[in-house]
Amino acid sequence: PGGTEAVVLRVNGQERSLALDPRVTLLDALREHLHLTGSKKGCDHGQCGACTVLVNGRRINACLTLAVMHDGDEVVTIEGLGQPDALHPMQAAFVKHDGFQCGYCTPGQICSSVAVLEEIKAGIPSHVTADLNAVSFSEDEVRERMSGNLCRCAAYPNIVEAIREVQERGA
Ligand code: FES
Ligand code: FES
Repeated sequence: PGGTEAVVLRVNGQERSLALDPRVTLLDALREHLHLTGSKKGCDHGQCGACTVLVNGRRINACLTLAVMHDGDEVVTIEGLGQPDALHPMQAAFVKHDGFQCGYCTPGQICSSVAVLEEIKAGIPSHVTADLNAVSFSEDEVRERMSGNLCRCAAYPNIVEAIREVQERGA
């Protein structure tokens, strides 16, 4: 009891060595140990998506996974996607399309959005994609894939517009 385990995470391009209680979630490691508070704790139970970060390029709910399981992994948080004076295209699109109101869900929405475009590009099926050839950038597809990211301010239409703009510009 009370023991710690060594874990090395590559967070936003920097190697971070931590000694953590093995029960610490990736979210708490980021927020409380590395002071990267951009990733939000909404529910802490995998139900809201506010804690979404990218691990080895794939999105994950950081509240649902233990930090020690990610030794050597590449983690990107909202802080690493862009900088205030050099926004990531998805961050810029959220600003342009008013993709947020209170902003609490926004870091998770943006990390998820970035991953969603990659998933669709790679032809990775969503839960509802029956026909793999039907994977597309349609509004339905985007909404389905973003359905794990809740927004209490209901900025959903604007979020979809922001994602669509980045997809169209990047295509
Ligand atoms: Fe992780 Fe809600 S805080 S899904
Ligand atoms: Fe307020 Fe989404 S902008 S919860």
